[in-house]
Amino acid sequence: MKNYNIAIDGPAGAGKSTIAKKIAEQLKFIYVDTGAMYRAMGLFVISKEIAATDERSIAAACNEVTISLNYQEGVQQVLLNGDNVTGLIRSEEAGMMASAVAKINEVRKKMVQLQKKIASSSNVIMDGRDIGTVVLPKADLKIYLTAGSKERALRRFKELQEKGIDCNMNDIEQDIINRDNQDMQREISPLKKAEDAVLLDTSNLTVDEVVKEILSLFKAKIGDFDSAY
Ligand code: CDP
Ligand code: CDP
Repeated sequence: MKNYNIAIDGPAGAGKSTIAKKIAEQLKFIYVDTGAMYRAMGLFVISKEIAATDERSIAAACNEVTISLNYQEGVQQVLLNGDNVTGLIRSEEAGMMASAVAKINEVRKKMVQLQKKIASSSNVIMDGRDIGTVVLPKADLKIYLTAGSKERALRRFKELQEKGIDCNMNDIEQDIINRDNQDMQREISPLKKAEDAVLLDTSNLTVDEVVKEILSLFKAKIGDFDSAY
């Protein structure tokens, strides 16, 4: 039986995970957050006190790491050498280190292999930076989600404030711009729109509007999903 794959790429704060989770719920697909895998690798590197610039040690560390995903009531859990690190990987520090380790070939090879394996056996909506270009080049639908850096910073700011975390808007925007640059300018699998991806700028759209648009693009591509079985 054919598996359906939807690829979502885009910069930090564009809304990839929020949107992908909702679409996964509606279509009963598995949502695969690939950033979580790079974050887990980042966390390992932090725990070993390896510098972000020490590419040789990070590449070597790949041999000491097993990352796996499992699902509890549909929610992705990330295991790092058997430990559930789902909560720990969400810090800004882990995000920055994820972006540093994601430049390294050995790290990417390991992650991409696991991501392709998951997508080959299930209907998935997968988000990241290289999903449409490298991981799922034959995805049934590819979306490149973006929004202006000020809007993305504002979204992160609101999220942190809701959690009661004190933060500064300018610092958040600067972190976002730094991470965009690092992800778009790296040599291996940089963040870019796949030629056949649909570009969606969400700056002035609500979450529900974006979800509706993607669902209708998916239906237009493959016909009525239920009757595809
Ligand atoms: O995964 P990614 O870093 O791309 O973004 P996210 O973690 O889903 O965060 C996006 C935040 O912006 C969430 O708080 C959403 O509720 C909000 N948002 C959005 O995702 N899409 C919109 N069109 C408007 C707001
Ligand atoms: O949620 P947010 O957009 O902040 O980031 P994320 O999706 O958790 O990804 C963290 C970092 O991992 C990104 O800044 C990228 O450097 C890297 N990443 C990647 O290189 N390729 C992917 N498929 C997913 C994430």
